[in-house]
Amino acid sequence: MTLDDQAARLRELMRQTRATRTIAICSGKGGVGKSNIALNLAILLSAGGHRVALVDADLGLANLDVLINADVRANLSHVIAGTCAIDDVICDLPCGVQFVAGASGLARLANLTEFQRAHLVQSLSVLESDNDVIIVDCGAGIGPDVLHFACAADSTVVVTAPEPTAITDAYAVIKVLTQREYAGQLSLLVNMVEDRQEGRVTHERIADVARRFLNVRVLQAGYVISDPKVKDAVKRREPFVLAYPRCQASRCLAALANKLSSSGCLSERKDGFFRRVANWFA
Ligand SMILES: Nc1ncnc2c1ncn2[C@@H]1O[C@H](COP(=O)(O)OP(=O)(O)OP(=O)(O)O)[C@@H](O)[C@H]1O
Ligand SMILES: [Mg+2]
Repeated sequence: MTLDDQAARLRELMRQTRATRTIAICSGKGGVGKSNIALNLAILLSAGGHRVALVDADLGLANLDVLINADVRANLSHVIAGTCAIDDVICDLPCGVQFVAGASGLARLANLTEFQRAHLVQSLSVLESDNDVIIVDCGAGIGPDVLHFACAADSTVVVTAPEPTAITDAYAVIKVLTQREYAGQLSLLVNMVEDRQEGRVTHERIADVARRFLNVRVLQAGYVISDPKVKDAVKRREPFVLAYPRCQASRCLAALANKLSSSGCLSERKDGFFRRVANWFA
């Protein structure tokens, strides 16, 4: 075997052994900004040199493809139906992110047959060999599919807005994940805040109650300012970090991307993410 061959084998071995980190983006209340955060975070991490996949795991009301304005011909419903292979569903976005579109109105994941579930999990595990980070945009609430994706992720970011209803629902997600003995990193991101202080106070309120009543540590993922540029970008169907890289929301999200990249917050687990999802159903 030549030196070149050996180097190629080593590279392949390193590629196979590098752990893929998974981040589930969840919320209690709907409409608090999960999809925008998932998408823009994926783009920032990709720009930071990570190989990133973005999965729209909202199997009820998937809409990331609308947000991206991606020309998506196939989605997870086709994979589940067996009419498409996962390779036909993975869409390489111009920003470098591998995107897997979800399916609107699909049966909840928990209601799929064992065969369909095994097939979906097996198909999605392809992403683990090609990416350093997988960001999973979950549906709102504490339905079984959301919980299973979140429980299997290395890191779960619960997104909330600073209003009382969103805060109560975010706490409910934290409570259910804790009851299920979630083993990953749990953090809270406060979106649509007036200022940094509102983000800090909201995190403190939730983290304090979680510490006292659930005995769980909720890390501070950060905050994102309520920024009219986000709505503008959504209307233009462009990710806001690309449309307005210097806007306040982009700068807040860049802080989160930096934190995730540098803090080791994305802990490694030995078994694959999608295998763990399958185990949760077992
Ligand atoms: N930081 C922000 N500043 C201003 N507006 C925002 C911000 N984040 C989100 N929004 C607004 O909230 C809307 C909903 O965002 P998004 O679709 O990302 O929420 P979601 O949590 O994914 O919703 P769903 O629960 O329906 O999946 C956006 O279309 C945008 O108008
Ligand atoms: Mg969404």
